[in-house]
Amino acid sequence: MHPPLLIAPLPRPILATIHPQALRHNLGRVRAAAGDARLWATVKANAYGHGIAAAWAGLRGADGFALLDLQEAEQLRALDWRGPILLLEGCFEARDLEHCSRLGLWHVVHCEAQIDMLAAHKTQVPQRVFLKMNSGMNRLGFRPERYRAAWTRLHALPQVDEISLMTHFSQADGPEGIAAQLARFEAVTADLPGERSLANSAALLRHGAALAAHSDWVRPGIALYGSAPDHPEHDAAHWQLQPGMSLSSRLIAVQELQSGDSVGYGATFTAGQPMRIGVVACGYADGYPRHCGTGTPVLVEGVRTRLVGRVSMDMLTVDLTPVPQAKVGSAVTLWGRAESGVVLPIDEVAAAAGTVGYELMCALSARVPVQVDDPL
Ligand SMILES: Cc1ncc(COP(=O)(O)O)c(C=O)c1O
Repeated sequence: MHPPLLIAPLPRPILATIHPQALRHNLGRVRAAAGDARLWATVKANAYGHGIAAAWAGLRGADGFALLDLQEAEQLRALDWRGPILLLEGCFEARDLEHCSRLGLWHVVHCEAQIDMLAAHKTQVPQRVFLKMNSGMNRLGFRPERYRAAWTRLHALPQVDEISLMTHFSQADGPEGIAAQLARFEAVTADLPGERSLANSAALLRHGAALAAHSDWVRPGIALYGSAPDHPEHDAAHWQLQPGMSLSSRLIAVQELQSGDSVGYGATFTAGQPMRIGVVACGYADGYPRHCGTGTPVLVEGVRTRLVGRVSMDMLTVDLTPVPQAKVGSAVTLWGRAESGVVLPIDEVAAAAGTVGYELMCALSARVPVQVDDPL
């Protein structure tokens, strides 16, 4: 009889670290741009991949939290958040209204079906709703010509006690800006009572002054997490934002290549001269984008170098030429802050993959352990 095999856990060195102090700093930055407006911290998609509970310490100074999922709202209430929570897409089915009453949630109304649900809802607790206008995004909301009729219908319902007015900008990060949508919104709502909620991060940071007179509530998301909403025109440093998340790992092997040797699947990178290659415990199954190709920036021991070859499921390979001291065990920063304090902006890695920082944060894989540093 063999004794039972005790396999000690051998964790891979990959780790995501959430930085509450950076989140708090970023909250301060967007608050400074928001003037007197109150601030929803947008924490949908599990706080953009950071984890509601992990982000909570840094973002608890917000005036409210905007999200989509009831479970995330439950989590915030379990963290003892008593303030406003807004469901950004409102209720998906009638029974969600019960949960809104139970958890004290405010919710967006963007279509007639949601008004029908409210009208049929038997409640002791009147609901606070945010009536959404489709002012040009063409995603959710009532078109301007339908908006006032929706408002009148909601206003007549005993189930509704307060109606706020809301829209979402589609080009706040680009040259078009917010003027046309804001004008459409204003033209229809000028004489309607109720608080207004406008402005994602890009609108707030780029057009804060123009918005000041129009918005009682702003709804930044991405800037809170330290990513520039208008990269590459501006980077996070331009907006004085700090990374809310760092993804780090270590070298688990080093290869000495000869001129003509290639690396990884498809042999997409071939050494032009003898060089050292580091193998990093991080791959696309961890959420690192497979679309990142040779040249994507990576930090090894805080020194900037580049990815070479294809990203595979559990590993990627980096050029160690600028880091001759690197060896198995050397620290690698895939994005965020290295121990030395050097920052590799997530936006640069995202750009190398043809995407945006949002996607990388949200795609962090469940298998990556998460730690929270410098708890407040
Ligand atoms: C309705 C709404 N408001 C606010 C935000 C936050 O946007 P951002 O993360 O670009 O600041 C989003 C995110 O997509 C949204 O859908």
